[in-house]
This record gives sequence, structure tokens and C-alpha cells, in this order.
Amino acid sequence: MTLTSAQIDEITSAALVAIGSATDLEALKEVRIGHVGDRSPIARANQALGSMEVSERAEFGKVIGKGRSTINTAFEARQKELEVERDARVLIEERVDVSIAARRTPQGGLHPLTLLTNEICDLFIGLGYRVAEGPELESEWLNFDSLNIPADHPARTMQDTFFIEPLDSRLVLRTHTSPVQMRTMLEEQPPIYVICPGRTYRADELDATHTPVFSQVEGLVVDRGITMADLKGTLDYFARAIFGPDVKTRLRPSFFPFTEPSAEVDFFFNGRWIEWGGCGMVNPKVLRAAGIDPQEFSGFAFGMGLERTLMVKHGITDMHDIVEGDIRFSQNFGSGLR
Ligand code: FA5
Ligand code: MG
Repeated sequence: MTLTSAQIDEITSAALVAIGSATDLEALKEVRIGHVGDRSPIARANQALGSMEVSERAEFGKVIGKGRSTINTAFEARQKELEVERDARVLIEERVDVSIAARRTPQGGLHPLTLLTNEICDLFIGLGYRVAEGPELESEWLNFDSLNIPADHPARTMQDTFFIEPLDSRLVLRTHTSPVQMRTMLEEQPPIYVICPGRTYRADELDATHTPVFSQVEGLVVDRGITMADLKGTLDYFARAIFGPDVKTRLRPSFFPFTEPSAEVDFFFNGRWIEWGGCGMVNPKVLRAAGIDPQEFSGFAFGMGLERTLMVKHGITDMHDIVEGDIRFSQNFGSGLR
């Protein structure tokens, strides 16, 4: 292969034109392949030096070397120029206006009642209890009769009941979580240690301490040798764990058809005693109805209102705040999500 200086000049100027007309880095990359890289005419001319006569080689070596360095220098200069241009453009295009207000996505969270339910369940699970649940639409038999509250018993009117039509369906919106006691005892044999949180319904007016849809948590223990002292000890532990060591509670003799003896637990709040829940030793009649021998086993049960628990725990003075669903209220309790 014979090369002339004129050809090298042509190759060089073609490369310079191509370099000069590359308007961005992408285009310059193409130019590099065609005019600067290993397979470009100038590189091939350089490779051809090897097959030249020694005498020619020195002279052409210089010519080619000059062409190459001219091309390389032009290429690098253009490369820098285009990089500077790109950086300037990116600075403008990708500019972040840190003064624009951030778009906030509100995070969902658990209702404080749910948080409290979880806390109570955790507490009792720690004592070896199991969480049990039952339906909110409950049979009249489980809600009343099986708990020793027959149809003509005055105790039925103690809880203003939502009956479900047709009335001969014998279904009610459960008025308390106590039917879950019966469901549990019918399903399993003692020892039984269950905690049963859930929603309950009564035809009560919404006021500062009542709501027609509320929540209770039921506790039930049936085992050998269970006494009222176990009940009292468990309630004390429950109250102190939830409200703190300074909580003031009292037990007041009361009546529930399904417990004997029965008591009401009150706490002191806002200068007065408020009923927290009912409790007592499971009535032997109820144990027998569930097929448990009261000679061998005894038990205690309690049922507390969760909205009331939340009120005392957090100093909430009006039940409306708990049930109305204003998230400004819920937000104060944190999301409960981890
Ligand atoms: C009962 O419901 C019994 N089942 C409790 C029980 C369980 C006794 C186990 C013995 C053994 P009572 O009707 O008193 O009891 O209701 C219990 C608690 O539910 C009340 O103390 C109160 O904290 C809450 N409660 C009742 N009605 C409402 C209401 N309308 N709004 C908010 N909380 C209520
Ligand atoms: Mg009561």
C-alpha cells in the first residue's frame, strides 16, 4: 500500500470536519468510531507503516504522527466543549426548586381504639390467654338465654337491644361480648383462658359517656380452683398496666345473671366514679349449660367498655371525639404502624 502526504492531509481534514460538526456528545462518539478509533483511516494508515520500506517509514511516520495528533487534539477539545455545554444544560433542565412546598401524602393509621385493643390483647397474651372472637350478629340464645337471661327476665331490659327483622330469626346485634364466653366454653374444655375484644350494640343515645355502637373486651377463665381472688388480682393487674400505678378503681356488688357473685368495676375520673365494666364468678348454671362440670371447675369473667377505657387512659372527656372519626383526633395517638 502506498500512501501520499496528500492522502494523509485529506484523511486529517475529513476528521476535523466531522469533529467540528458533531453537535453533541452522542454524535461525537460516532465520529470517534469513524475518524479517531482503531479502525479509522488514520489508524489504518499508521498500521500500514509496518509494511513500508524502512527509508519511507521514517518520513511517513512523521506525517501520519502529525495527522493523528491534530485529530486527537481536535477531538479532545471538542469533547471538553460539548461536556461543558451538556453540564450547563443539565444544570438548567434538572434544576430543583427547593422553595416549592413539598407534596405531602398523609399516612394512614390505626384508630386509637384499635391501638388500645392491640395493647390489651398483648397484655393478656403475655399472661397466657388466647384471643377469641365471635360474630356481631348473634343468636338471641347465645346473647341472652345461654347466659341465664330468659326472655321474661328483667335483665333483658337492662340492655336495650337491636333486634333483627324478621323477629322470628331470633338474631340480635350482640349487646355485649359475653356470648363469646359461651361460644368458647361450648367449643373447648377447661382450662380456658381467653380475651375477647369486639364491637357491641345497644339502643343508647350518644352522649359524653355512651354510644350506641361501642366496644367491649371480655375475659374468661375456667380452670380448677379459680376464686374471686384470682379475678381481683387479674383486674388490678389489668387496670395498672393500662392506666398506670395511680389508677383508682373500686369493686361494687352488682348483679349479672351469668355470674354469681357479681360486681361492677368503677374508676375515678373527672371527679366522679364511672362504671368501667362488669365481672364475677361464672354462674354454675352457665357452666352446666356449656357442658362443664361446676363441681370440678370454676371460673371468672369480666367485660369492660373500651371507649371508657380510652377516655380514662387519655383524659378524653367526651365520647363524641372517639366515635366521630375526625382524624385530627386520631392523629394525636400516632399511627400505630411500624
Ligand atoms: C355487660 O355488658 C356484661 N356483659 C359485663 C360482664 C361480663 C359482667 C362478664 C360479668 C361478667 P354492662 O351492661 O354493665 O355489662 O356493660 C359493660 C361495660 O360496657 C360498661 O361498664 C361500660 O363500660 C360499657 N358500656 C355499656 N354500654 C355502653 C355504651 N352505650 N357506650 C359505651 N360504653 C358502654
Ligand atoms: Mg353496667
